Amino acid sequence: MNLNKPLVIVYNKLPEELKEKLEKVCQSVYVDKGVLEKDPLSVKELVKAEALLGSGLKVGKGLLDLMPALKIVTNISVGYDNLDTEELSKRGIMATNTPDVLTDTTADTIFGLLLATARRIPELDRIVKEGKWDKSIGPELFGMDVHHKTLGIIGMGRIGEAIAQRAYAGFNMNILYHNRNRAFEAEKKYAARSRTLEELLQESDFICVMVPLSTETKNLVGEHELNLIKDTSVLIVGSRGGIVNEQALAVALENGKLRAAGLDVYEKEPLDPNHPLLKLENVLSLPHIGSATIETRSKMGALAVKNLIDGLTDRKPVSLINANVWDQE
Ligand code: 8YV
Repeated sequence: MNLNKPLVIVYNKLPEELKEKLEKVCQSVYVDKGVLEKDPLSVKELVKAEALLGSGLKVGKGLLDLMPALKIVTNISVGYDNLDTEELSKRGIMATNTPDVLTDTTADTIFGLLLATARRIPELDRIVKEGKWDKSIGPELFGMDVHHKTLGIIGMGRIGEAIAQRAYAGFNMNILYHNRNRAFEAEKKYAARSRTLEELLQESDFICVMVPLSTETKNLVGEHELNLIKDTSVLIVGSRGGIVNEQALAVALENGKLRAAGLDVYEKEPLDPNHPLLKLENVLSLPHIGSATIETRSKMGALAVKNLIDGLTDRKPVSLINANVWDQE
């Protein structure tokens, strides 16, 4: 092991070619994420580590106090709600993520979730597999149309826009959106119309939650908001758990307050198998697969390793979250 090379803690599995790329520049130590979360003091390399590479690990004061040599934290994800970016910036530590490379893949997943929930695909697949298809299905198993319906997107960022494109161009849907800033491109390209959260919840047949998780968006959709939704509408949650109140959602679904929900993300992941949402027939639940394709995960890994190597070799990483840290140097 070349001790002159910077030491990197890696807590995600990496494909061989990325391991080799990393080895050329760094000494990498692979540590289980659970150990870093539960017993970081047992990881003796922490004190010398100059970089951290993986997805989802909470990085805040506690862990940072154990890592005095840290220069860069590299997320293999676009979301960075796991990082205390304020604390990182205060300590002059760079933080990076992996935007753009996963936009289309995640939009495909979310639109697939919307279609599968609307047309009840998993339920009907199960009926056929269980040999229960003995006659033409009746209205009790009919789904709902997606084409020409109104889609409300909460959070019109890159992925939100990619969903709008699929909905508008592929399914002739009317696009509404609720976003901190006006999305003029989406308005021009997909005839998207800006709405308040309340208006969007009342007017939409399908609602996609695509905002990042932050103090601002935590519990954005609770009991009050769920009560504004039409009882024929479908809610899709694709960005992060904790934005929609899951207990309130389970009650609303049980009481027929909305038709169905399609979920890819949850407050606690993996989701507790006894979670009330899993007991509901009109809930389609995926295990956080937004970006989970061979192609996209390898692009995410490659971008993250490039960010890390650039950051450790005095080149500005392409997807630096806290650019102020670089400018201060
Ligand atoms: C990641 C995601 O795979 O990029 C994100 O923000 O949610 C997914 O693409 C996930 O974060 C891995 O933990």
